Amino acid sequence: ALLEPEDKPLAGRRAVVTSGPTHEPVDPVRYIANRSSGQQGHALAAALARLGAQVTLVSGPVALADPRGVDVVRVETARDMLAAVQNALPADIGVFVAAVADWRTAENAAHKIKKQGDEPPVLQLVENPDILATVGHAANRPALVVGFAAETRNLLENARIKLDKKGADLIVANDVSGTIMGGTRNQVQLVSRNGVEAWPDLSKDEVALRLARHFAKMLETI
Ligand code: CTP
Ligand code: CA
Repeated sequence: ALLEPEDKPLAGRRAVVTSGPTHEPVDPVRYIANRSSGQQGHALAAALARLGAQVTLVSGPVALADPRGVDVVRVETARDMLAAVQNALPADIGVFVAAVADWRTAENAAHKIKKQGDEPPVLQLVENPDILATVGHAANRPALVVGFAAETRNLLENARIKLDKKGADLIVANDVSGTIMGGTRNQVQLVSRNGVEAWPDLSKDEVALRLARHFAKMLETI
């Protein structure tokens, strides 16, 4: 029954979802990335669409098919992801699942960096824009803004800090010290200003459908 929703509680709602990693170029052949597979973000976009929402999925580079019934915008870098998200606004729901690279190199070398003498090159990093925080504090902010928090320690404390700092209504917190990143299962805790709700270990598809239903309920009360 859980996976056969007949009702469409999100009919008439618009949603924008980010998913996957970003790739930050170092030179023409190298980039900075992370282990995100995009499974949770893509599953969430599909679940929101199944519940009737009109969904734009802004995806970093992933090896996944486009979910059915979803508009997909493919990007590489954090800056391109932010631009694509802003282009998809206004929306009723914004869900930021992407594992955005926190840093990019200060310069994207025009030519392949070559080995030179004994000294390895030093890559100078600069911080990427925070897409969730930018949208969470924007004038055209969606009514419901949801972030994820990938942590390997102090999970709930860090999730609460992210909730406030980024202007989110909800943070979906998960411990990524195990096999969650790149794996098919997920165990999440929902952190809001009302407290914490811990969910059992579920498949990422089940987490997605439960989250989509949860968002529909939250929107009813806004
Ligand atoms: N996020 C984002 N843009 C960034 C970094 C993060 O939109 N440049 C979003 C993620 O999609 C996620 C939330 O912010 O919804 C938290 O991401 P996370 O990596 O856990 O937090 P950071 O703020 O980057 O902090 P840190 O990695 O240092 O824990
Ligand atoms: Ca981060």
